[in-house]
Amino acid sequence: MRSVYAKVLAWSLGTLVLSLVAFLGVSIFVSMRNTGRGGPFERFEISLMSFAVDAHESGGAPALRTAMTRIDGQLPGRHFLLASDGRDLLTGEDRSAILAASRAGFPPRYRGHIVDAVHTSDGRYFYVSLVDPPLEFWRYVPYYLLILAAVAVLCWLLASQIARPLVALTRTVERFGAGDLAARTTSRRKDEIGELGRAFDRMAERIATLLTAERRLLQDVSHELRTPLARLSFAAELACAGEDRAEAQEILRKEIRRLSDLVGALLQVTRSEGEPASSNMEPLPLDEVVEEVVSDCWFESDSRDCRIQYQPRSEACVCGDRELLRRALENVVMNAIRYAPQGSAVEISLAADESLARVSVRDYGPGVPEEALSKIFLPFFRVDSARHTDTGGMGLGLSIASRSVSLHHGQIRAENALPGLRVTIEIPLA
Ligand SMILES: Nc1ncnc2c1ncn2[C@@H]1O[C@H](COP(=O)(O)OP(=O)(O)OP(=O)(O)O)[C@@H](O)[C@H]1O
Ligand SMILES: [Mg+2]
Repeated sequence: MRSVYAKVLAWSLGTLVLSLVAFLGVSIFVSMRNTGRGGPFERFEISLMSFAVDAHESGGAPALRTAMTRIDGQLPGRHFLLASDGRDLLTGEDRSAILAASRAGFPPRYRGHIVDAVHTSDGRYFYVSLVDPPLEFWRYVPYYLLILAAVAVLCWLLASQIARPLVALTRTVERFGAGDLAARTTSRRKDEIGELGRAFDRMAERIATLLTAERRLLQDVSHELRTPLARLSFAAELACAGEDRAEAQEILRKEIRRLSDLVGALLQVTRSEGEPASSNMEPLPLDEVVEEVVSDCWFESDSRDCRIQYQPRSEACVCGDRELLRRALENVVMNAIRYAPQGSAVEISLAADESLARVSVRDYGPGVPEEALSKIFLPFFRVDSARHTDTGGMGLGLSIASRSVSLHHGQIRAENALPGLRVTIEIPLA
């Protein structure tokens, strides 16, 4: 059975048939126990018999008539009190045929009625009831068939509720697999199938983002490689021509350093994002990391005559990879030093609330145009002014920082502090 429809239908009908059979079996068993010897039904008949016998013995025929009329009025069927020879003690009629029938067959029958007979212990009185037989099994069959048909319709509806979205999901997955990166299920169901669709959508979103980012990165990398390579070949020609060897050497050295920086930075981005497991997560006092970065940046800040002012307002312990966090912070601080005017201050602060540690780095430089504030975290993005100056780097620092912070489930954002730029990193406390 290959389709969900057929499976749901078969299982539901099978369950229904089984429960009907079980229901019938239990009913027959219970009714046999109730009507059998010593069962509650027989005890009830015996108590009716003693009621009738008492009436007959204490008040004769009039009292027996009253008693039998009461019994006939309250119970279905016909009821008689007979003498041992089958004579009806109320009417005097001979009912020995009924008495004979009560001793034959199971259940005993007389003219289409079921006969129930009990007698007193001395055998002088017989109490006999003639009741209508219960409905034959085959009379129930049409009702059972009706129930089966109703259940089959419900099962079909259920099966199509399950199978239809699965078919749609399969089609979406196939479209996505065939290269349509925009294919989504957009399921609004609230059940597990809807959750499956949404999980697929999330996965597709992530894959599409990764693929697009990868493509863009590749384009950017090839574009960025062209400039140093062109300069290298120019310097190599200079050196070969023997015109200005010193300048050629300087260019060669600078461009080779630029290339190796680029490759190093790219490796770090790829590693930090591609292999989250390779990071070394441990409880980490963030103030130690900030202090390390401040002392590492001393040379750059000194050469640009910048003052780094660090105010640790609280101790904050996060769970993180020391090296990744150090580099992220270093990139932000190096930017502040690089883009700040000579002789200005770079302010670093560390604060924490109940759940987050917050490091912010502020400089007094030109800031970033509002529309570029979110783009500076993209790889190779540089504000135009940075592109055209020698101070500008490759545009990878903040993208590396942003990825490292995301790996720590944190956030990084930039805002203009007028004057200058403030970059804030927030990381959940350990
Ligand atoms: N403190 C800042 N003040 C002004 N502009 C900034 C500042 N920090 C970053 N930017 C802008 O954001 C761009 C991206 O920064 P990012 O650190 O990613 O690259 P980069 O510094 O140019 O190069 P890299 O860090 O790779 O050497 C920079 O080119 C610059 O235009
Ligand atoms: Mg930078």
